[in-house]
Amino acid sequence: MDIALDTLPPQGGNKDHVTVLGIESSCDETAASVLRLARGGEPEILSSRISSQDDIHRPFGGVVPEMAARAHMDKIQILIAGAMADADIDYDALDAVAATSGPGLIGGVITGLMSAKGLALSLGKPLIAVNHLEGHALSAKLSAPCPFPYLLLLVSGGHTQLLSVNGLGDYTRLGSTVDDAAGEAFDKTAKIMGLGFPGGPNVERAAKTGDAKRFKLPKPFSGKPHADFSFAGLKTAAARAFASMDNPNAQDKADLAASFQTAVCGALTDRTQRAMEMFKEAHGDGPQRCIVAGGVAANKRIRSALDTLCVKNDFKLICPPLKYCTDNAAMIALAGAERLLAGYTDDLSAPARPRWPLDGDAAKHNPASGSGKKGPKS
Ligand code: KG4
Ligand code: ZN
Repeated sequence: MDIALDTLPPQGGNKDHVTVLGIESSCDETAASVLRLARGGEPEILSSRISSQDDIHRPFGGVVPEMAARAHMDKIQILIAGAMADADIDYDALDAVAATSGPGLIGGVITGLMSAKGLALSLGKPLIAVNHLEGHALSAKLSAPCPFPYLLLLVSGGHTQLLSVNGLGDYTRLGSTVDDAAGEAFDKTAKIMGLGFPGGPNVERAAKTGDAKRFKLPKPFSGKPHADFSFAGLKTAAARAFASMDNPNAQDKADLAASFQTAVCGALTDRTQRAMEMFKEAHGDGPQRCIVAGGVAANKRIRSALDTLCVKNDFKLICPPLKYCTDNAAMIALAGAERLLAGYTDDLSAPARPRWPLDGDAAKHNPASGSGKKGPKS
């Protein structure tokens, strides 16, 4: 259950407060952040720099892994130097260097992790290899106190998961996509309709003037007893609907965008409802918290549907500010700082991992969650 802390045995964890440099490069954002954390206290973000690669990938309608890796290499040193300058501290004042070491696009992960290893080695400071999903799981704590346990819905371009966040390193995966992530489905549908990259915001914009009832699209897994997701069939159904129209005009596109967005929204709320039941079975019936993270959480229609769902199920919906809810390095620095305070560090042989489930056991025992030659997918 707690594979996130499986790398090395605790080494003491005797510090009262730590200052950590965090590095993120697992997809199409290069980021660096310096964060200070006192034991039992709230994090203080001393700096947080992000460089987006949207302009690089826009012409291709999706993230091109090789180009992403090169862009990370071009930017990473500048971002680290910028984050250190903004924080106005010397490298010697750092207690550790933390970097995303998976899951993600391997070229990008290697770039960030190798930079962190180089720094850690030259400074003589510990390295902390952070699971990107653990960063998202803890990100709610960057903007407001958020005690464990809570339910996390992570909906981004790379991940769609429901996690019970029980404590540091203690995560139970309640559900996960068996194929595409929700953001990926938005991006691919937008590409098919010629709406541009990144697709999510463009589909949301087009949907504003559309008739959501015009196209009947599937609601994958609706009402199933598990809390897994599937978006590939929905994406294909939207592609078929688009292909069936002769010379679709702006209204046709708006109608399809609205129908698609409503279907994704229905799938997210239906599966989250199921996860809420599972969460309450484990943690009790009283008022609980539901955190939504990932780029898709920017969607107003989805946020408002989740808000209604939370009210109905006695959960408080917490949507961190978008800058902490999408990929950023402050969440990686926070995960690193929490682990360092708990006494966990990694050695310089820590591998870059394209796949790294936060809850390894659940991934092994739940084939619906998807598994390939390299192991569980998410
Ligand atoms: O978390 P994020 O910035 O990066 C990762 O994927 O890791 O999420 C980006 C994803 C993209 O797929 C994008 O299309 C989607 O979030 N997204 C949205 C919206 N804004 C961004 N999806 C739906 N509606 C939006 N308004
Ligand atoms: Zn992410």
